[in-house]
This record gives sequence, structure tokens and C-alpha cells, in this order.
Amino acid sequence: MSSVLRIPNEFITELLDRIDIVDVIAPRINLKKAGRDYQALCPFHAENTPSFTVSPHKQFFHCFGCGKHGSAIGFLMEYEGLDFLDAVESLAQMAGVEVPRSGSRTSADKHTNLYAITDKARRLFQNNLQNNVQAREYVRRRGLSEKTIETFQIGSAPDAWDYLLRAFSPAEEPLLMSAGLITRNDSGKVYDKFRHRLIFPIHDRRGRVIAFGGRAIGDEHMPKYLNSPETPLFHKGRELYGLHLARKHGNSRAVLVVEGYMDVVALHQHGLPNAVATLGTATTPEQVALLMRYFDTVVFCFDGDKAGRKAAWKAMESALPQYRDDKSLKFVFLPQGEDPDSYVNTHGAEAFQRLVGEAMSLSDWLLQGLKKGLDLASLDDRARLIERARPYVQQLPKGQFRHILTRHLESLVHIPVDWEATATKSFMPPAQKAAENPAMDDWSPIKKAIALVIQHPSVAAQVNWPSGLEACGYKGGHILQQLLEQVAASPQLNTAALLEQWRSRPEYSHLSRLASRDLGLTPEQVLPEMHDLAAYLQQAINRNKIEGLRRKQAQNGLTVEEQQELLQLLASRVQKAQP
Ligand code: UTP
Ligand code: MN
Repeated sequence: MSSVLRIPNEFITELLDRIDIVDVIAPRINLKKAGRDYQALCPFHAENTPSFTVSPHKQFFHCFGCGKHGSAIGFLMEYEGLDFLDAVESLAQMAGVEVPRSGSRTSADKHTNLYAITDKARRLFQNNLQNNVQAREYVRRRGLSEKTIETFQIGSAPDAWDYLLRAFSPAEEPLLMSAGLITRNDSGKVYDKFRHRLIFPIHDRRGRVIAFGGRAIGDEHMPKYLNSPETPLFHKGRELYGLHLARKHGNSRAVLVVEGYMDVVALHQHGLPNAVATLGTATTPEQVALLMRYFDTVVFCFDGDKAGRKAAWKAMESALPQYRDDKSLKFVFLPQGEDPDSYVNTHGAEAFQRLVGEAMSLSDWLLQGLKKGLDLASLDDRARLIERARPYVQQLPKGQFRHILTRHLESLVHIPVDWEATATKSFMPPAQKAAENPAMDDWSPIKKAIALVIQHPSVAAQVNWPSGLEACGYKGGHILQQLLEQVAASPQLNTAALLEQWRSRPEYSHLSRLASRDLGLTPEQVLPEMHDLAAYLQQAINRNKIEGLRRKQAQNGLTVEEQQELLQLLASRVQKAQP
């Protein structure tokens, strides 16, 4: 027990994030790929048909035969007969990291230190822009105002190998390295990564600087843009440039997704602060989910050229599984050779908004792509259309939109369509069906929510859960509350890492059993299901509050604030229907 307490939770989380449970198990037993998971003959009991499965997604193993389950740590403990500390030690060796001894720095401190480093670098870059003649000339040529430069904290890196290196102490070099601000060449020499570039700090949702993008000053330098590598603070598929400003200055109605730093900056300067940019990569499902959490309409804005259309198709693919009937997704294509920056500078903000007003709907964009090259007068092509559409429609959560889209496709091909007909069956070990109750029908909403959060922590991090779950009236509210706090503190947690935080608690075995239960949901159904549960629990909490206030009203009367609270609670009850 004391060994559990001696290793900080943050380290366990980071370790389990770094290693892949498949790499731990595969060298020891014979794993075979089966759908999204792996399966094998269970090493912990005798069997002839495989019921041992490993989920890379959850980073968790489970045997449907003997019930053994756990994280990579748990596997090593069980398989190698190690105690907890030795198992952690062995994994750490595999990952090439050192287990922090008690009293040494935890990784949470290390993160705090990294933020201090990125923030100091941000200030140094901003200082440099004050007297960097070439950089100043460049921002003037690109039309950036002083106010814009200030708002985006734009700076510059001088044409030098050691601008940052000299401003930090040698003791801080390891941190500069983890922050991606310096690199080492083959002969071991360290030097500044960003040189002779205009610097765009990248902020997280809370406005903390986590990374940088550097644009070459003058077009002859390659590459045009240099970005921070992935660091403990920066995972580019999960961040969006400008999001903290779009949330602060814009309204929650619509957000524009553009491709470049300069596009965001120029739109903001022209009075359109609701713009964010993906960071030099295709739009990821995580980014779409994040945007739908804050905005009602997401408008993807791409160049009209072939690359832009390809990017828009990718964005649509990322968006489908996240689709929600209460949100709207649109696509805008700019005229050839223009990007939002050039367009808004030559034609002005109003013209740009007109373009946005004419944006294409998700369904039009999808249908146009699916119909391309097909002649719907031909029977073969009609069948082809349905086959092309199937994988896309199947990703859509069941709801109005999927229904309408299906009816529309049916009207194009003149026959009823059954999407599930030739759907590829997902693998499910036979033992699972017998041993487990697949549906969650008779579970309390809290039990459902806990199981979902444990199985999909990073999805849970995208949902706006109510607070005060202890008071929702169902058993286990405080456990859900704690799980959600852990997930919010590190949204990158996987199932195994989340469970490790509970290892020494009495709830551990119950929670880890829930980790392997079949919830009967497809991956696309998880997010909508969580939204429903969150809304339902919010109502339960509100109901309890209303009852409490009414009781007090009858007994001692209410203060003015309490009366207002009661009114608000009653009003919110009218607006939202029961799920
Ligand atoms: P673009 O090439 O469209 O550049 O790249 P841009 O945004 O119009 O930039 P300016 O106007 O020439 O300054 C779009 C985005 O793709 C990423 C950057 O995030 C850029 O903003 N990118 C581009 C890179 O990461 N590296 C590159 O070399 C080029
Ligand atoms: Mn541009």
C-alpha cells in the first residue's frame, strides 16, 4: 500500500499515456487482431477458444472467461508476479523514463515549470519585435495593426542561434528542450529552434501559451511555417489556434475554421473574431467535438482549389461521428487563389460575411461528393451511390439528420435503403455475450455515466457535465463527480490511467469491472449518450434543488437570491424536455 502512495498519480498517468499495452502484452503471449481489439488464449486460465481481449483504445485487458482485467501495470503484476512498484519500474524502463523518488519533482510541477518557460519565451519574442527592423517591416507589409499584434502577442525571433538560450540559465535547458524551443544537432550542440521568424504564440483554451508557430520572414526561407513539436503541453490535433480569443471576443453562435495563423489574425483585425485555425494538419474529430461544445454553428472555410476541397472532405469525415441535430456544420469555398486573409484584405469584412452566408450545408457537401461521376439514371450507379454513402451514413449518430439524409438518398435511388443490411459485423467474443448483460437498460443514470466516463475518458472531457452531482439523488454521484474532476484535470487520460488513480480505493474493483462491460454502443453513440446523460443529471439536480427551495419556502421563506434561483430553476425546467 505504501508503495502505491509513493509514486505520484501524475507519473502513472504519464507513463500509461506513453506506453502501449499492446507492446507490453504482445511479446509475452500470442495476440491476434480482432476488429478494434486484440484477442488471445487467456494466460491466466486454461481455455481452448480465446476470451482474453486487449483494447488499445482503453489501454486495458479483460478476460471474459476468468474475469481478470487491468492496465499494463496490472498485466505485468499478474503475468510476471511483480508487485506494483516493480511493475511500474519495469514499464518506466520500457518507456525510457525515470520513476520519481518520493520528494522529487512530480510531473505536475514539471508542467507548471513548462508553462513558465513558454510564457517567458513568448515575452522575449514580443520584446524582440520591438526592435527587429526586418520583422517590423514584415508585419507592416502584411497590414497588421499594433492592436492586433498586441492581442495575438505576436513576436519575432532574431536571426541568431542562441537568443533564447542566452536568456535562460543552463539549468533551464532541459525544460527549453521539452518545450520544443531548442534542438540538438548530431554533434550534440543545442541551438534555438525558431530563428529569423515572425512568432505566433499558440494558446490553450485557457489562454496559456503552450507552443509557437514561426513564419519565415521573407518567402525565400524554408519551411514557410515552423511549428513547435508535440510536447507535454502541446498536442496539435487537440488544439486550435485562436480558440481562446474566439471564445472571449466572439459570440457562441458561429465559429469559422480556417487554415492559417494569418487568416485568423486578419479576420480578427477586420472585426471577425470568431475564427480559429487547425495547426497545419487535417481537422481532427477532437477539434470538431471541441468546437461544437462552444459554438452552435461551425463553418469550415477552405481554399477553392483541389487541396482545399480535399481538406474540406477530411473535415466532413471528422465531423460525421460528432454530428448533433442541435448543431450546424457548413462549408465555404473561397475563389481560386484566395485565402481568408487575402480575401478580407481585398474585399472587406462584409464581402467575406456574404460568402459565409452562402455556405454549403454538410448534407449538400456530402451528397455532392458522393454523387460525383455517377449517372443516377443508371441502375448500377444508383446502387453505387448507396454503397458509397453507406460508410458515411453509418457514422452519423441516429437522429433527425441521419433520417432526413436517408430519405433524401432514397428519393434519389427510388428504393428503400437499409444501412445495416450488409454492415460489417464487429467482432465480439462468444463468451462475452453469455457472461455479460450488453445493455445498460436497468442501470441508474449515474452507473451509466460512470461506465461511459471510465471507458471513454477523453470523450467525457468534451461534455459539459453538471456540477454538484453529489446532490443528484442517485447513489454514486460523488464517485462520478470525482471521476469527472480527474478527467477534466487531464483530458488525455485513457481508461487504464484513470483507473490507476483509484487502485488503492475501495471502489477500484467495481470501477475496473465497469471498464470491461459491453455498453452496447457504437463509438459514434458515445458522445450523444453522454450529452443526454449530462442533461438528464442536470435536471435531476435541479429537481432536488427545487424541492429543497420549496420546502424552505414553506417553512422559513426564501431570501431574494433564493427566490431568483427558484425562478430560474423552474424556467429551465420548462425549456428542456425530459430525455
Ligand atoms: P498556407 O501555405 O496556406 O499559408 O498554410 P498561409 O496561412 O496563407 O500563410 P501566409 O499568408 O503565406 O503567411 C496554411 C497553414 O498551414 C500550416 C500553417 O499553420 C499555415 O498557417 N503550414 C503551412 C505549416 O505548418 N508549414 C508550412 O510550411 C506551411
Ligand atoms: Mn495567406
